[in-house]
Amino acid sequence: MGISPESIAQVKNADIISIISAYVSLRKRGRNFIGLCPFHSEKTPSFTVSQEKKIWHCFGCHESGDLISFIQKVDNVIFTDAIRIIAEKSGIDIIEDQTKYVSKDNILIKNLQTILEKAKSTYQENLLVSQISINYLKKIRNINDDSIKAFELGFSPQNINLLAELKKTNSQHDDLIKSGLFYESHQGQLKDRFSGRLIFPILDYRGRTVGFGGRVIDDSNAPKYVNSEENILFNKRQLLYGLNIAKNSIKKQNKAFLMEGYLDVIVAHQFGFTNSIAVLGTALTANHLQLLKRFTDNIYLAFDSDDAGKKALERSYDILRKNKFNAYVISLSEKDPADFLIKYGADKFNHLIENAQPIFWFYYQLLKERTQLDSIENKSNLIDQVLKILKDENNQIIVEHYIHKISTDLNISPELILAKFSKTLYNNSVKFEKPSLDKKNKLEKAEEFIIYNMLMDLKVRQDVINKLNEESIFVEFNSVFKLLKNTNKTGTDLLDDIKDKELKNNLGRIIINNNNSITENDILNEINNNINAIRMEKDKQKIESIKLKLKTIEEKGNDDEIILLLKQIQTLKKRIGG
Ligand code: CTP
Ligand code: MN
Repeated sequence: MGISPESIAQVKNADIISIISAYVSLRKRGRNFIGLCPFHSEKTPSFTVSQEKKIWHCFGCHESGDLISFIQKVDNVIFTDAIRIIAEKSGIDIIEDQTKYVSKDNILIKNLQTILEKAKSTYQENLLVSQISINYLKKIRNINDDSIKAFELGFSPQNINLLAELKKTNSQHDDLIKSGLFYESHQGQLKDRFSGRLIFPILDYRGRTVGFGGRVIDDSNAPKYVNSEENILFNKRQLLYGLNIAKNSIKKQNKAFLMEGYLDVIVAHQFGFTNSIAVLGTALTANHLQLLKRFTDNIYLAFDSDDAGKKALERSYDILRKNKFNAYVISLSEKDPADFLIKYGADKFNHLIENAQPIFWFYYQLLKERTQLDSIENKSNLIDQVLKILKDENNQIIVEHYIHKISTDLNISPELILAKFSKTLYNNSVKFEKPSLDKKNKLEKAEEFIIYNMLMDLKVRQDVINKLNEESIFVEFNSVFKLLKNTNKTGTDLLDDIKDKELKNNLGRIIINNNNSITENDILNEINNNINAIRMEKDKQKIESIKLKLKTIEEKGNDDEIILLLKQIQTLKKRIGG
């Protein structure tokens, strides 16, 4: 069942200032309200809210949106949950939409959840009566009652008939197979994959049970862990163990500790490191990182200290860089974080965190270990590899810092490394000159002025559409122009239809940044001036590119083509009056 469109409209109209004020302390400045941004840490307020336009924008982290997207971000909830939260805060009664189409997937998900919840509680009940399992957890692994409860640990004894238990929920055979909890025996019977194992329920970040991990508790030859089979809910590439419990702490501390094992996470939480999470025995993926991005950009990797752990770190570096995380490596003297914490305690672990090194430095050390530093060629090679990575770093201070560190470390002059670095950069840079900053700003402003007024006023919009027709004059906002042609929505309402996040944020900034106190006629005049200025600049650019083309064909001497290009230049020059 969904929420009726009327209720959504009502919620969108709720007072943005009074609701956001519960999260951010706002004060009035000019037409807008400002406060400290809840989405990044800052000392001077750049988070701006407009009551009349029902929009927020942060000039620090460049995010924008409406009230609903604010709640989605700040509470980490999906759209419909955000609607319900706002409704409750502003006393709006939600009318459910009875007719809303429910997809097959949604039905399957609902059925699977019933099964998984039942399985989880069955496993939990069975743990309480399994002395061996309790013993293993408490005595051997040092896991206390609170942790057992918080992580909803369970046990699957050999003798329970899980299938019979689950059938009590009236679940269909098909759904039971799809639950990922069973395998089919040779006789065609459904058998519990986790039989005889300790159970670690796996929840998604919203707290829905989506699968299980099961660990052996004896030293049999069976694989140490088995996991649920992948299905619509259970996808290891996008699940992070513990995130449902850790997410608020991650956000508050603005950092996450990423580990390798379920037990590492449980023990870490028990020792107060409530921002700890783990991958599910897979490599770190872009999906994991996009999910984590909602909570923090800072990640501390506490992987196992063995070679496999080091390899995993190395493999993760690329994806971390691509997703713009600040990553640090915690190096352990024990096998894994759980062992370390149990042996040395929280203070010593804190000490490791303070001494965590940026992953770049860890990676450099790794490359260095593999290089025989006795020849200058090898050193030079090593530097080349390192610089290739540093060139992706856009903070110049960090680059210089590391260049100096490496220079001392390898005993090579920093000037030499810097020279090499500039060469790496040069080889990768675009050959064409970019327009000067001033010119660019002026054109950007002209474009923004047109787009802002088209966004806010339907009459102005129609006027510009008639004038430009199919002509495309925009650099940044061509796609917006196309969108505006086909909609009657204005202002913030329109942001919902824009999928591209960067574009959306950009428009948010434009809406909150611009205000017009001039008459419609003056607006239209100003728009005309801007259109002419942009056209003129575009013509100038065209002339430059034709000149460039001329240069290349002059040598070959194709007269006809040369004359044609010269004529084009003439026409363009006439048009711009030069
Ligand atoms: N894993 C798995 N299948 C295995 C072994 C491991 O899926 N056969 C995954 C599990 O998610 C496990 C993680 O890899 O949590 C790390 O493995 P490991 O360090 O061996 O397990 P721990 O959880 O640390 O458990 P323990 O401390 O008991 O060894
Ligand atoms: Mn481990």
